[in-house]
Amino acid sequence: MEKMLTGIRSTGTPHLGNILGVIIPSVSIANKKKKYTSFIFIADLHSMIQIENIKEIKDNTYQIAAAWLAFGLNTKNCFFFKQSDISEVTELAWYFSCFFPYQRLTLAHSFKEEIKKDKGRISVGLFTYPILMAADILLYNAEIIPVGKDQLQHIEITRRIASHFNKKIGKKLFILPNAFLQKETMSVLGTDGNKMSKSGKNWINIFSEENILKKQIMSIRTDSKSLEEKKDPKTNYIMSLFRMIANSEKIDTKYTEGRYGYLEAKIGLYEHIIHKFSKERKRFFSFMKKKSLLDDILYSGAKKAKNIAMKRLNYIRKNLKFNSII
Ligand code: ADP
Ligand code: TRP
Repeated sequence: MEKMLTGIRSTGTPHLGNILGVIIPSVSIANKKKKYTSFIFIADLHSMIQIENIKEIKDNTYQIAAAWLAFGLNTKNCFFFKQSDISEVTELAWYFSCFFPYQRLTLAHSFKEEIKKDKGRISVGLFTYPILMAADILLYNAEIIPVGKDQLQHIEITRRIASHFNKKIGKKLFILPNAFLQKETMSVLGTDGNKMSKSGKNWINIFSEENILKKQIMSIRTDSKSLEEKKDPKTNYIMSLFRMIANSEKIDTKYTEGRYGYLEAKIGLYEHIIHKFSKERKRFFSFMKKKSLLDDILYSGAKKAKNIAMKRLNYIRKNLKFNSII
């Protein structure tokens, strides 16, 4: 059985980019229980780098959990948990950080981008972010990692860490994982034309109240073509969103014929989203009213995952010759 693993940070409500890029494809893998063993977690330790207020991280954790469940994740078939419940991951991250060259990490985009903005505010955690991510993956020897395009470099670093460590120990302790990307949805753009992200305030949040969701869609930036002008559906952002979530042929024709304005297109998109995700919206709101159920689900997922994590870490310790002191 192949192992799939992925994580979403609890830094806000999951947006359409997270949903199309990661949640939908991962649920479809995780629910094939006979083919895959799946690990899906909420990366709350990684969230601490961005959000200092733990209460906020906890509130967001419920939102991420509810979103996975709303999209039909069958938690009986997989390991569904919070990263912080598996302390083994931080120990493994330490071993990696002792072996991995500092210089390599300075090349990570996540670090290079931030250091350009404000050197003084960068934490050590931000710098070692990819090491913790590698530990998340390699602790379980996961092979398939569904992620968006922005995470490709982190997967590459994980592969380097794995092979570096294997060489050092002289044994194939870690499997080199592969990113699993959806061509169409690996980088969903936000309302301002940049990559949609929780921190960019450019998201489309399908779990917002209807009027807020409508506002988000109405704020999609467009060019200034008039109603009458013909528009190219291939280069149009509203159309590209349509294409990701629906059969867009009818709208393609309307666009190219002219007399179809951006306002109509946005209203169409809004109505389509509300209709298409009505079941998931209902489920999301219902789970959000049952926080103790969410706690229970995550707790039992953590218990199962911890069992595996402990065994794996013991094996890794043995190979590091640490086991005799424990
Ligand atoms: P965000 O960048 O919005 O804070 P996360 O860092 O928690 O989201 O990302 C969780 C997963 O969702 C990652 O695998 C990431 O690559 C993916 N992802 C984030 N934004 C997008 C997007 N706009 N399009 C496709 N996938 C995305
Ligand atoms: N770094 C990922 C992000 O920002 C979240 C994450 C943490 C992750 N650990 C992971 C994703 C392991 C895949 C596998 O989105």
